[in-house]
Amino acid sequence: MNKTPIIIDCDPGHDDAIALLIALASDKFDLRGITTVAGNQTLAKTTLNALKVLELCKRTEVKVVPGRSNPFMKEVIVAKDVHGESGMDGPVLPTPTTKPYPMFAAEFIADEVEKCPTKMTLVAVGPFTNIATFLLAYPHLHSKIEKIHVMGGGIYEGNRTYLAEFNVWNDPEAAKVVTNSKIPVHFFGLDVTHRAVILKEEFEIFRNEKGPVFQFVADLLDFFAICYIGERGLPGCPMHDSCAVASLIDLSMFVGEEAFIDVELDGKTRGACVVDLRPVGRRVDANNGFFYYDVDRPRFLQLIIDSCRRLESDIKAKEQA
Ligand code: BDR
Ligand code: CA
Repeated sequence: MNKTPIIIDCDPGHDDAIALLIALASDKFDLRGITTVAGNQTLAKTTLNALKVLELCKRTEVKVVPGRSNPFMKEVIVAKDVHGESGMDGPVLPTPTTKPYPMFAAEFIADEVEKCPTKMTLVAVGPFTNIATFLLAYPHLHSKIEKIHVMGGGIYEGNRTYLAEFNVWNDPEAAKVVTNSKIPVHFFGLDVTHRAVILKEEFEIFRNEKGPVFQFVADLLDFFAICYIGERGLPGCPMHDSCAVASLIDLSMFVGEEAFIDVELDGKTRGACVVDLRPVGRRVDANNGFFYYDVDRPRFLQLIIDSCRRLESDIKAKEQA
């Protein structure tokens, strides 16, 4: 089977961490590296968290490459209220034995894209600063990008302003570079991710299973629930970033359509996504991406459980080797 070459740009982050687990468990991917960006926490913290996830899964051969520590136009505003002081509060993981790869994320992406015999798929689940930096600095490599799957945006609600979602809101200029890049962009925004929840009553599925990965996810969910269930009143924890990865494994789980997608930069609508979903009267030639708004939740949950199971057995096999 030809594996899909991917690079995941992220800011772990509870839901980023679970997205990484799905990617690490799947044999559909050739994971060329993980690049990190400031977002949920500072760059140093998101990078450390990515290293911790790899160490837990005994996958330290995967490179973690730090990128931009601030959005283009301002200082990063971290989501301590959602992800805690460390960016991944809850689970207690040992200090990683590995170090970040000594390169700059955008340069690393360019290098990997150039080396790759086929087109590369990018996954972006933090503020889009690294991806936009790459796109601006290496226009000759755009044709070697198959598509970009992003967690960001949403049309019916925001989570940082009434219209703006965190990843887009933190760096709207970067998000606009991505939507205007002419590379197909698949948007998994709050419309779909707030349906892609693990319900409170499902947490015990993870807690009741043995093994470090299941326990890690159970601890992540318990902390994530403080904000999402306790404060925001959702029935469970939204697996925002997992949508951008799971859809590369099985897109048929998601419902969406081709659309024109753009980002607002000014005033009260700064950081909002504009998506043309009119049933009639759309200019089809204006479409620049795909926008998703629903998910088959039971299948999505099963994929997360299966991914954890697969990682547990890989870890065991490595321990016994
Ligand atoms: C997005 O913001 C972060 O808090 C999550 O990791 C996700 O990428 C949701 O708005
Ligand atoms: Ca994220």
